[in-house]
Amino acid sequence: MNLINAQIILTFLYLNVNALRFALSKQQPLMKLKGQSLIKKPFQKNFNFSSQNKLDLEIYSEALCPDCQQFILGSLQKALNDDIIFDYLNIKIYFYGNAEEVFDTQANLFSYRCQHGLKECEGNRISNCIMNKINSIQKALELIVCLEEEIKRYAQIQMVNYDKILNKCYQKKKVTNQDLKKILKCNLGEEGNILQHFSAQKTELQTELQFVPWILVDGKYDIQQYNSITKDLILFVCDYYYQNRSVDLPFCQQKRDSV
Ligand SMILES: *[C@@H]1O[C@H](CO)[C@@H](O)[C@H](O)[C@H]1NC(C)=O
Ligand SMILES: *[C@@H]1O[C@H](CO)[C@@H](O)[C@H](O)[C@H]1NC(C)=O
Repeated sequence: MNLINAQIILTFLYLNVNALRFALSKQQPLMKLKGQSLIKKPFQKNFNFSSQNKLDLEIYSEALCPDCQQFILGSLQKALNDDIIFDYLNIKIYFYGNAEEVFDTQANLFSYRCQHGLKECEGNRISNCIMNKINSIQKALELIVCLEEEIKRYAQIQMVNYDKILNKCYQKKKVTNQDLKKILKCNLGEEGNILQHFSAQKTELQTELQFVPWILVDGKYDIQQYNSITKDLILFVCDYYYQNRSVDLPFCQQKRDSV
């Protein structure tokens, strides 16, 4: 009797250990971000990359916020070097953040109070003009990068001279004269005020916004996605398409190998 009991227990244990082993083996990740195992996943080669199908990135920013500058001059600037990324990405940046607006009935315009003062309001307005008046998103973002780079050169915010900065960036980033005129006209005219108001409205709809830059992926905020995007935007785009669209983008293998 005792022997049979022991045998039953041993058999039971054996089966369980094997079941556990089997379960563990099934839990092996199917996919790793680095290396060969990637090939196991089926790819959709004929993925339709119309603008409706692209990954949507919405960024809420401020011209003078240090974390925004860090993102723009870091992860975003790095991604700009890889222009192919914009075939897969709809990216919008709204400059307003923690500002406040009131409608000035006398001037018939909105007036602004910005987190980092008047110079930030000016920087936000110019940035919104750039995002809206330049047709090429890449060119627009390059200008935004240049703007932030030049702003950071000033030891004192009060000394920031946007006319000088725009002139410098116009030369550095080879903006057409026509585009520069569009930006200046927008910035000095009513349009700049209206675009700023549009960014304000968009931002105020983000009731969950806790800090800037605030980044939404396909309309949603997720802290993990935020961390990846601020660290390495290209790698994020690769992972996103790979995990959520079953697509291995052309430049991603090389990117993963270099990490
Ligand atoms: C791609 O998607 C767009 C928008 O959904 C659609 O209009 C277009 O016909 C599609 N193209 C192909 C080749 O399926
Ligand atoms: C893929 O989608 C899931 C669910 O929406 C999300 O949690 C995950 O972060 C996405 N992966 C990437 C790389 O964004």
